[in-house]
Order: sequence, then C-alpha cells, then structure tokens
Amino acid sequence: MDLAQLTRDLEALAADAAGAVAGAPDVAALEAVEVEVLGKKGRLTGVLRGIGALPPEDRPKVGAIANTVRTGIEAAIAARRLVLGESELEARLAAERIDVTTPARPIRRGSHHPSIEAMGEIAEIFGQFGFVTLESPEIEDDRTNFQLLNIPQDHPARDLWDTLYVDLPNRLLRTHTSPGQIHAMRTFEPPIRVLLPGRCYRYEAIDASHASEFFQVEGLMVDEGTTLGDLRGLLDSFAHAMFGAGKRTRFRPGYYPFTEPSVAFDVECLVCGGSGCAVCGRSGWLTILGAGMVHPVVLRDSGLDPERYQGFAFGMGPERIWMLKHRINDLRLFLENDLRFLGQFR
Ligand code: DAH
Repeated sequence: MDLAQLTRDLEALAADAAGAVAGAPDVAALEAVEVEVLGKKGRLTGVLRGIGALPPEDRPKVGAIANTVRTGIEAAIAARRLVLGESELEARLAAERIDVTTPARPIRRGSHHPSIEAMGEIAEIFGQFGFVTLESPEIEDDRTNFQLLNIPQDHPARDLWDTLYVDLPNRLLRTHTSPGQIHAMRTFEPPIRVLLPGRCYRYEAIDASHASEFFQVEGLMVDEGTTLGDLRGLLDSFAHAMFGAGKRTRFRPGYYPFTEPSVAFDVECLVCGGSGCAVCGRSGWLTILGAGMVHPVVLRDSGLDPERYQGFAFGMGPERIWMLKHRINDLRLFLENDLRFLGQFR
C-alpha cells in the first residue's frame, strides 16, 4: 500500500459515490448510499484503514484528500436530498389533491310524516283565525267519548263508531276527537276557540279509505252570538286556503248527535271542477268535514248556559284532506312506512 494507490482508491470512491448519489431515485435510496459510503462500516472507513501502513509523513496528505472527498460527498448528498425531498412532496401533494369542485353526495334528510304535515297546515290556517291548538287524551271514558256528546248508552248512533276498548274498567280508545270539546268547555271560559288534533281508533276493516288508526282535527268555537253563518264563513276561508281561492263550497244537512243543526261541508270536486267524475262519484262535490252548532245539551252538560252561549264545532280527517289535495288514492299509504311516499311532503 502506498500513497499513490490510496489516492487512486479515494478518487475512485469519490467518483462511485457521485454516481450513486446522482442515481438515487428517492430519499430512502439516498440514505442507503450515505450509509454505504460514509457510514462507520462504509467504504471510506475501509479505504482509510490503509493509512496505518503508510510512512508517517504521507499520512496527513491522505487525511487531507479523504476530508475533501468526504465533504464533497456530503455536499452532493445534501443537494440531492433537497431535490428528492421536493419532488416527493410534490408527488404526495398531487396524490392527496382534493377536488373541491366535485359535486357533493346528497345528504338524506328526514321529513315530517304526511299526517303531521297535513295537521300543521290545518293548524296554521285556523291559527290565523285565533284558534289555539290543544291536545286531549287518547284514552277516554265512555262518558266523555259518548254520553257528554249526547250519545247515550244503547243509542243507535253508537253504530257510527265501532269502539276499541282497553283493558281498564270503563276505558276506551277515543273514536273521535270530539271528547276534546268537553275538556275544552270544562277547562276554559268562553270565548273559546280551540283546535284539537289527535289520533283516533276504531274497530274497522282496513281498506283504501278506512283505517283502525287515523288522525282527526276537531275545531270548537263557543261565544255569545256565534252563528251558523260564522261557521260557514270560517270553513269557506279554510277551504280556499287549503284547496285554492274561489273553490265553490256548500253545506248539506247532516246528522251528528252533538250538533244541531248538523252539516256536511263540501268543496267542488278538485279533479273535475264540478262536472262529475269517478273521484266525486259523479256528484261534482267532495265532502271534507262534518260540522254543526254545538247541541244545547252538550253545552249545558259541560257547564255552559245554552241561553247565553252558542258554539259551533267541526271535525275532519287530515289524511282525507291530504288525499284530496295531493290526489293520493289509498289511505293505507299513511300507515306503511314507504319512504318513497313519506318523503314527498317536505
Ligand atoms: N266526531 C265526528 C266523527 O268522528 C266528526 C264531527 C262531526 C266532529 C261534526 C264535529 C262535528 O265536531 O261538529 O265522525
């Protein structure tokens, strides 16, 4: 081993290292080159082991060359690291790029059940006439559901309501919201203007227009000097707000034990406009609710003086209203949880 040989080895090492550094494809490969050349057990250390065999005066010369080679390689590695680091960052940024202009996936939002939506609209319309919405119990006693509404036990009018009883003495599921009238008259002093929406139950064979579970919205107004004309005016306003301004309406005689006189309130057929079609049974009219003047006996039994106070009441099925308004042909849709139907009303 002599000075010339060691010098050539160092120069060869420098040339190899320069090639390897330049050829390193990424930071990891560059670091492998660094360990291989400059590491404790690397090639440079290996070459320098030969120094011990040189005459002492040659040793500093080789040391100086080795230092130059080392700093040269270190500088090359540092420069290459910068370049590779930058392009790796660029590659990562490109790979992780988020396209903020991609259309978002739609968010599925819940919606009100159509029965609730219908009752909300009904309450909003009557609310504009000062009717306050109240709730009354779903479980009633015979007295409130029937007797106080002038429907005595064994009266043939009971056939109008096929009742479901609960497993408690004298308790039943209300067959209509009318018992809410009794609660309202017993709780408040006239003037009374209340809207009583709620679920009702009947022992029914289920078909396209009958359910054993459905909603009703009851209305009650009691004051001094309340007339059938007031009722007509209010219901006209309701029909126009719900079905369209200018729709013709009519009162027909009806029968309910708790009203006298009783009426059926019709609106001109929304499908044919009155000329007669299958939907209105060729009559040109659709019945949307039952109503009447509160029977004096009902007022009296609720603690109000029928000589002083008069009232009117009305009751409607929000599902029927919604079916007419939106041309829905089967009541059962309201009870099945088909989201394609349920989601159509806001
Ligand atoms: N309660 C009646 C029913 O279930 C509906 C009704 C008719 C309510 C006339 C009323 C009314 O308040 O005046 O069929």
